[in-house]
Order: sequence, then structure tokens, then C-alpha cells
Amino acid sequence: MKEIEKTAIEEISKTQTQEELERVRLKYLGKKGIITEKLSGLSKLALPEKKMVGKELNIIKKNITDAIEKHSSEIKKNVLSDISKNVIDTTLPGKPFDFGKLHPLTQVMNEVKNIFVNLGFNIATGPEIETDYYNFTALNIPKDHPSRDMQDTFYIGEQGNNGTMKQELLLRTHTSPVQVRVMENQKPPIRIIAPGKVYRHEAVDASHSFVFHQVEGLAVDEDVTFADLKAVLEIFVKKMFGENIASRFRPSFFPFTEPSAEVDMQCLICKGKGCSVCSQTGWVELLGCGMVHPKVFEFVGYDTEKYTGYAFGIGIERVAMLKLGIDNMRLFYENDMDFLSQF
Ligand code: PHE
Repeated sequence: MKEIEKTAIEEISKTQTQEELERVRLKYLGKKGIITEKLSGLSKLALPEKKMVGKELNIIKKNITDAIEKHSSEIKKNVLSDISKNVIDTTLPGKPFDFGKLHPLTQVMNEVKNIFVNLGFNIATGPEIETDYYNFTALNIPKDHPSRDMQDTFYIGEQGNNGTMKQELLLRTHTSPVQVRVMENQKPPIRIIAPGKVYRHEAVDASHSFVFHQVEGLAVDEDVTFADLKAVLEIFVKKMFGENIASRFRPSFFPFTEPSAEVDMQCLICKGKGCSVCSQTGWVELLGCGMVHPKVFEFVGYDTEKYTGYAFGIGIERVAMLKLGIDNMRLFYENDMDFLSQF
């Protein structure tokens, strides 16, 4: 046994790393280690021998344990002095630590929400699976009317008993149905934005996707005018893109607003001089808006003589592409880490 102790201590003193030392520890003191096995073999011995050998073995075990501990702190000391002797190059760059962050679309969405919340708008939400009524009819887009062609729609049929459609469900093509839902449940004054996903039956390309994001806006009260709409959207463009960025209102058409307009902003790329991004016009289209059509007020039971309102719908992908200088919408949905980590 003394011989075993001697070789163990020798082996311990020869180790140079904690890993080597651990291997020696296992060899002697591990579950199947030499000393451990001898200790469990004690039961086979007669009592007086058992006592004597047991005592001796425990002393050896303690000596080996002490030697390991002592040598372990020795190794540690050596490592430290190696560092101070520059054996380990502490000037090497560290390993980067990746933090999670919000998706660029979420970041831009949050920024848009903040701007309008600071202007006094509340946030409203509505379902992504909508009825035909809220998505179209109540927004003055009647069945079989050509204006339905403006938005290619994913219909979801729900069958009734006799094979007819029970209720015509669809994936909302815009956030405008939230306007109707809010007005059905609240009396003016109303000032809301409705952020969310919308769906269109589109082929995917650099500027189209079958699912994208909008932020709807709606303000209704007595004496709300087109000037209020213009002021709010001009503030939005300046807060979002910078104080010197000009915007303009261009006449347009939407069935649920009259008059309707689209807002263009000065092209950020060429600062209005004309380039390929703005098709040499110096302007890029940003959003649709207008004064709420009296027909829409009639659907929700508002007094069209008393109340007026404005509405707008902002495409978030478009804002994000302009703001972050991204020329391909597909990049937002591919989850490529090299792309995402830039924002
Ligand atoms: N809902 C319209 C669209 O998606 C945008 C819009 C919203 C226009 C509100 C006017 C008022 O195209």
C-alpha cells in the first residue's frame, strides 16, 4: 500500500494541467479507482485486519487527496504567472457576444407607433381573419363592384349546412376594417391607430409580399378637416425621416375616403434630384389617406351632418425600406442573420 501511495504522489507531481491531475485523481480515488476498490474490498477481511488495513487505507487516501489539492493550486499559480510572462497573449481580441435584438420591421413599427401615441392616438387592434362585411362592404366596397379589384384577396370559405357559404371569411387585405370595428363600439371623439399584418394574393418580388404590415389611422370628431390630416402626416414624415424632408399630397382614390390622397415624400436617396429608386421623379409614394366617406359613417350609425374624420394607411415595409436603405422586401422575411444583425 505504501508503494501505491508513493507512485500516486509521484504521478500527481508530474501533472501539468488540471485535466491531467483529474485523470490521476480518478485513477486512485474515482469510483473504480485503486484506493476506492481496496476500501470496498475491506468487507472481505476479518475484523482485526479490517480495522488495521482500513485505518491505513484512509490515511493514504487523505495523503493523496492533500497532494492533489496542493498540486492543483500549484498549477493555478503557474497559469497565472504564464499570463504575466505573456505566454498567454492577453492582447488577442475577445470572442464577440451576440445580443438578441428586435427585427428591423418591429423597430420601425415601434417608432411609427410612438410618433402617433405622442400625438394623442390610442392603439386599437382587430382580427386578421375578417368578414367580407368589415373588410369591404362597410368600407363602401360593395359586392360585385369593380373597386374590389384594387386588392387581391385570400378568401377562406366556411361551409353552411346546405353547401352554401355560411359566412364569407377572408384574410384582411388592409387594416381599414379596424376603423369600422372601433366606430361600431365607440362614439366620437376618436383618435386611434391600428397596427398589424395584412394579406394580399400577390406574387413575391422585390417590392411585394403576400403578407405585410400596415398602420391604420383614424380621427373622428366635430370639425375635423383635411388640414388636420395634412398637419398630422407632415409631422409624421418629419419625425420619421428628418426635419428637412419635404412631403406632398397627390389626389388619389379610395372607396372609403372622399377626397382621397396619397402622400409622397422627397426621395431620401437622391434628395429630390431624381434617381432609379424614385423613377427620376424625386418623390416616392408613402401612404394612402383621405376624409372618411359619409357612407362609412352611415354603416356605423354616425351622424354624417355632425361628424367628420380622416383616415390613413401606412405601409410599414415601405417606410422601413426607405428609412433603412433596403432595396428588396424579401430580405425582411428570410431571417438571414448577416442581414438582421445590421440593424
Ligand atoms: N386601406 C388602404 C390600402 O390598404 C389605405 C388607406 C387607409 C387609404 C385609410 C385611405 C385611408 O390601400
